[in-house]
Amino acid sequence: MTFSKIKKFNSISPKELLAVERFLKSDSPLSGFYGSNRPEFFGGKQIRKFEENWSKKFNTEYSVSMNSATSCLIASMGAIDLKSGDEVIVSPFSMSISAIAPIFYGAVPIFCDIEEDFFNIDYEDVIRKTTSRTKAIIVVNQFGHPAELERLKVFCKKKGIYLIEDNSQSILAHENNKLCGTVGDIGVFSLNIHKHIHCGEGGVCITSNKELASRLSLIRNHGENVVDSLNLKNNSNILGFNFRLPEISATIANEQLKRVDFLTKRTEDIGSYLSEELLDVENLIVPKVRKNCRHVYFMWSCKVKNSSKKSLHKFCSLIQKKGILITQGYVKPIYRLSIFNENLDFGCNDKMKFYRSYYENLTCEVVERIHNNEIIQFQPVSWDIKLRDIKIMAKQIKDIFNQTINK
Ligand SMILES: Cc1ncc(COP(=O)(O)O)c(C=O)c1O
Repeated sequence: MTFSKIKKFNSISPKELLAVERFLKSDSPLSGFYGSNRPEFFGGKQIRKFEENWSKKFNTEYSVSMNSATSCLIASMGAIDLKSGDEVIVSPFSMSISAIAPIFYGAVPIFCDIEEDFFNIDYEDVIRKTTSRTKAIIVVNQFGHPAELERLKVFCKKKGIYLIEDNSQSILAHENNKLCGTVGDIGVFSLNIHKHIHCGEGGVCITSNKELASRLSLIRNHGENVVDSLNLKNNSNILGFNFRLPEISATIANEQLKRVDFLTKRTEDIGSYLSEELLDVENLIVPKVRKNCRHVYFMWSCKVKNSSKKSLHKFCSLIQKKGILITQGYVKPIYRLSIFNENLDFGCNDKMKFYRSYYENLTCEVVERIHNNEIIQFQPVSWDIKLRDIKIMAKQIKDIFNQTINK
C-alpha cells in the first residue's frame, strides 16, 4: 500500500459551517470593534464570547484574541513595556517571529541553544545568557512538547523577568498537569490553518495579570485613541495596531474550541503509535516525552544518528514517493537569517548595530547539528491518517530507512 491517497486533514466540520451560516443570517456586523472608550472597544459579540470560552478552557483570567500569533507576540512585547536596548532570550529553532518580535520595540534577541531531546530552549544556556539587561524570555513549546516551563518560571521570578510562552504549536500539551500557555506571564496561541484548531488566521494571548491584559487590548486596537479617557498610569508603548480578529473568524474559532480535545487526541495518537512502531529501528530516535509531560505532536520529530545530509535526503525523497511527507531539517537557526548578518539596521533600531559581532560569531552547536544533519519530521496535524494505517506506514518508513540510512 502507498499513501498517495491519504488526504489532507480538514478540521472544519459541519458544525463550523452551521455556526457561520447562523451568524451571517443574524445580520450582525462582520466586525464589532470600535476605536473609542466604550464596551465595543473590546470587540463584538462573537469575539467576547470566544474570549470568555477560551478563558474557561484554559482556566485563566483574561484572553485577548488577535488576528495572528505574530500579532500576539508583538503585542506581548509592547505589553511588558519592552524598551530600546533591553535583551530578550529566545530560541533559534522555531518560527522566526518568536525570536524577532522584540526587535519591533528596539530590543535585542539573544539566542540560546536547544535541548538535545525535546528541541526546546536549553534551560542551562538560558541561565548562562541572562544578564542585567534581560527583560524577558520567549519560550516556545516546540513541536507539541512543553519546554521546561516550571523551572523557567521559578528562574524568571527570582530574576524579576517576564516569561512569555509561545504556545502556537502545543495547545493542550502540559507539564506536571499545568497546561502549556498558562505558566508564563503571557501565553500565546496561533489559530492559523496549520494548527490543531484554526479559523484560517488568528491568535490568542492569555494572562492572569489585569494590567497586561489591558495593555494587550490597547495595543490590539489603536490604544493611543483611548488612553486619555482611561486615565492610565502607564501609557508607554500603547501605540496601537489593528490586530483585531473578525467576527466570522471568532465564530469558527468558537466551534473549533469545542472540538479541541478530540483534535489534540487525534495527533497525540498518531504520533505516539508511530513512535511505538518504530522504537526499535537502529539509528532512528523517535520523539521522547519528558516525565509528567503531554506531547500533542504538532510535529513528529525524529533524530537520525550515524547519517549524513545526503542519505537523509535520499531517505526523504524515497519515502515521499510513497506518499508519506517526511521532511528533512526544520528552519535554519534564526540567527543565520541574512537580516542578522547583513542588514542589522532594522530601521530606527540602532541598538542592533552594537550586536553585529555577537550575531556574526554566534554558533549554537546543538541546533546547528540537529538542523543540518539529524532531524526528520512528519506533521500529524496535516494528515488524515487512521490508526489502522499506521502499522503499514511504519513498515514503509522502516524499510526505506534500512535501505538508505542503515544499509
Ligand atoms: C511557534 C510559532 N510561533 C508563532 C507562529 C506564528 O503564527 P501566526 O501564523 O498565527 O502568526 C507560528 C506559526 O507557524 C509558530 O509555529
